[in-house]
Amino acid sequence: MGQTTWNGVSRNILIIGAGELGMPVLRSVVRRARDVQGSSVDVLLRGSTLGSAASSKRRDVAEIRELGIGIVQGDLVESTIDDLAELFSNYDTVIGCTGITAGLDAPMKVAQAALLAKLPRYFPWQFGVDFDVIGRGSPQDIFDSQLDVRDLLRSQHQTEWVIISTGMFMNYLFEPGSGMVDLPNDTVIALGTAETAVTVTTPEDIGALTAEILFAEPRIQNEIVYVAGDTITYGQLAETLEEVLGRPFKLQVSSAPALMAELAADPENMTRKYRAAFALGRGVAWDKADTFNAHHGISTTTLREWVKANLST
Ligand SMILES: NC(=O)c1ccc[n+]([C@@H]2O[C@H](COP(=O)([O-])OP(=O)(O)OC[C@H]3O[C@@H](n4cnc5c(N)ncnc54)[C@H](OP(=O)(O)O)[C@@H]3O)[C@@H](O)[C@H]2O)c1
Repeated sequence: MGQTTWNGVSRNILIIGAGELGMPVLRSVVRRARDVQGSSVDVLLRGSTLGSAASSKRRDVAEIRELGIGIVQGDLVESTIDDLAELFSNYDTVIGCTGITAGLDAPMKVAQAALLAKLPRYFPWQFGVDFDVIGRGSPQDIFDSQLDVRDLLRSQHQTEWVIISTGMFMNYLFEPGSGMVDLPNDTVIALGTAETAVTVTTPEDIGALTAEILFAEPRIQNEIVYVAGDTITYGQLAETLEEVLGRPFKLQVSSAPALMAELAADPENMTRKYRAAFALGRGVAWDKADTFNAHHGISTTTLREWVKANLST
């Protein structure tokens, strides 16, 4: 479906990926799409996922079927830009939820396919930090490829785009591999300084807000939409953990120069790239009062609520 035959409402929607972000987006988009006459929601899944014996994948695929979501089999890596463009020509809106798991080249490939298909509306997978403010040449080189996608989308007027800036996934703060909260040792490790702030949003809230943004009227076009569950400093993170969990937390600081040195010693280490980029404190936090959710009175899970619901016994 090209821009010329589109009537301006997202109705034929394809979501790519059904992982940590994709599943909540699918659930919320399907729920909201019930109010949109003639709408349909499909998801692109790999054959390996459809045939997977893993219980979590089987559960997700069963839920997708129960929700009435159409399943399209495909693979971003194996498909050419032409293949993807042909697939996208069946839709008026494509929402990317694959993350970097599909490889560094996938975001540009999917964006090029969206343009080739003259797709009316495209939501690239840019659910994260503010790449424009971070700028090129940051310690995380993935951010440069995300900026390339933004440049491509901004260079044309045929495909409308919407980018949703969410900050970090809230739960990611607490994943052992992220190195920000060491729960067994009651320690918060500040990236940068104790006063460095981060914006965090739960994947469930991102899903709900993506659906609201998708169907918002008047239609959101060619815009970066900021959302937030909470914006907190690492110092406030430690205080919140102390207050909610009722035990003291230590606050250690990993300075930006120290994290840059760690990265220099292992330059391809993905986690070190993220940690160094976050420590610079640029483009990783925005005021919750200035977000789409705040402007529309949509309540989102705060850090305190998340800690209480997920960490307190
Ligand atoms: N801000 C943050 O803290 C944060 C943290 C994590 C992620 N993110 C963002 O969230 C988004 C998605 O992350 P996620 O956590 O949902 O990732 P995830 O749970 O790993 O899910 C990725 C999805 O993409 C699919 N996929 C992978 N390779 C593919 C391919 N070649 N072709 C088609 N589908 C493929 C996976 O399918 P299979 O099931 O077949 O593997 C899976 O459904 C990204 O935008 C990422 O940057 C942000």
